[in-house]
Amino acid sequence: MCGIVGYIGERNSIPILIEGLKRLEYRGYDSAGVGVIIDNTCKVIKSKGKVSVLEDKIKKNYISSPFGIAHTRWATHGEPNEINAHPHFNGDNTLFLIHNGIIENFTVLKKELQSKGYEFRSETDSEVLVHLIDRFLKKGNNLLEAVRYALNEVQGTYGIAVGYLNEPDKIVVAKKGSPLVIGIGDNENFIASDVNALIAHTSQVVYLEDGEVAAVYKDRFEAKTIDDELIQKEIEEVTIELNEISRGDYKHFMLKEIMEQPQSVKNSFRGRLLYEEGTSKLGGLVGYEQRIAESDRIIICACGTSWHAGLVGEYMLEQFTGIPVEVEYASEFRYRNPIVTKKDTILFISQSGETADTLAAMKEAKRRGALVLGICNAVGSSIARESKAGVYIHAGPEIGVASTKAFTSQLVVLALITILIARRRNLSLIDGQSIIRELDLIPEKISQILELNDHIEAIAEKFVNAKNFLYLGRGYNFPVALEGALKLKEISYIHAEGYPAAEMKHGPIALIDENMPTVFIAPKDSVYDKVLSNIEEVNARNGKIIAITTESDSHLDEMAEFTIQIPNTIRMLMPILTAVPLQLLAYHIAVKKGLNVDQPRNLAKSVTVE
Ligand code: F6R
Repeated sequence: MCGIVGYIGERNSIPILIEGLKRLEYRGYDSAGVGVIIDNTCKVIKSKGKVSVLEDKIKKNYISSPFGIAHTRWATHGEPNEINAHPHFNGDNTLFLIHNGIIENFTVLKKELQSKGYEFRSETDSEVLVHLIDRFLKKGNNLLEAVRYALNEVQGTYGIAVGYLNEPDKIVVAKKGSPLVIGIGDNENFIASDVNALIAHTSQVVYLEDGEVAAVYKDRFEAKTIDDELIQKEIEEVTIELNEISRGDYKHFMLKEIMEQPQSVKNSFRGRLLYEEGTSKLGGLVGYEQRIAESDRIIICACGTSWHAGLVGEYMLEQFTGIPVEVEYASEFRYRNPIVTKKDTILFISQSGETADTLAAMKEAKRRGALVLGICNAVGSSIARESKAGVYIHAGPEIGVASTKAFTSQLVVLALITILIARRRNLSLIDGQSIIRELDLIPEKISQILELNDHIEAIAEKFVNAKNFLYLGRGYNFPVALEGALKLKEISYIHAEGYPAAEMKHGPIALIDENMPTVFIAPKDSVYDKVLSNIEEVNARNGKIIAITTESDSHLDEMAEFTIQIPNTIRMLMPILTAVPLQLLAYHIAVKKGLNVDQPRNLAKSVTVE
């Protein structure tokens, strides 16, 4: 979604801004722009499309300035075009602003401003902010004060950065519901909506919290609440290395991230397994273990791929802890007056830690008194900061829009939470130890699956022209079927549905014919024979079958057109393995269709609007 980068210092800001915007490209966007102060004027350059288009346009203008803010826009109000791109100017082009988020009362504010003579150039909600700030400047306030007063009139979410010709020594930033981080340099400072845009320059950062504003100068910053209280902000150290957000020799981030899984999965459980005690140790949950173990109910709340991980978590937690578990779409949870009690524990899962629906649901759950825990990947993200306690999945930055390594790491963390709680209830030492032993073997088994890459690519070749796909699995592998279908549709634009295998005969079977490929997730487990019957049903209707299985099996080899044999493990951990060939299948089909797998159309890496 929209991205923000800014620089104030002594160097030319332009290359820093462009490089920063490129590091945010993965978030998804449709237009971009920069605003600088140069030769006593404010200059804004914008373009539709890629950052490289903006870069070419800037080169033609030969601009250089030690002050600049820049933006990538993902259209919400008004189509993606140059006028709607940010920064937005005030009437006399002395004030310019970039904004992430949504101003919910913009219609009312716009009418009010128009009645006072303000003219609007764009269709965006964001433009009201620049005119509103202008109004408070014209009343004699300085920039920081004008921003504070303006934001007090605003409903909605924002991460903003503002430049003002009469106060060229500062960028003013503010945050509510949309991330904003200040990067501290040596006689230069940076701002961004995502630390990934900063780490090439500094590892010292300050995270703004909701309701905070700051004036960022080249050699200091001053932070306040929007109600005018001065605040002392802590400077934190970011540990992300530049190579973690670089593509290296891989053709796509998505492939890099799929291939990284032996390591990312290991990182998720490294130092967290207590072999002798047959349990796990999660620093972020210390002190809460017993409270969770005594919960009447566990609710898991998330969106998209993280929601699929939550479904697997439901199977794990119910099987081993005996605590009832419900899995909720964060967006639905928030708006349907859910019954939540103080004896509930609610796990919020989010790779980015910035998903607006998940964040809002978390705030609602907190209000209702439940114990609220976060499972996040992005360190320092809003959901991680908002939760009472939680667990980082430590998968490393995920840049490809389609989530891959975060999913498998989320499953690892859910398994760790399961054994932690189950050992406090009725899981035996022996059973706890055997789960841990199996978990330890997972990275090596993923490596073995990744060796099947060429085989999976050859299968993908046969299905490039498919129009529809069905993914079927049972038990622990039903959520994997949903995830496999989501991966395919989001990057290849092929329509795909995931179903519990047994549900097929209640409707989807009508779709089966010789043109309909069906992917069966059929490891040799307790429901294997049942899945075989479902495979027979597809075969009887001439459907094409791709089967993911765990052992060579002459029966299945005969029934399926293609089989992908992967190593075996215990049922609760099987989804960590079965997800991997499905990621590769989706990846290769999309690449063979010539699509941009890292930035699929219409999608954004972190969905910061509701
Ligand atoms: C799919 C995908 C999305 C996200 C969803 C939630 O590949 O990436 O479905 O899983 O937008 O995002 P997070 O986990 O960041 O809250």
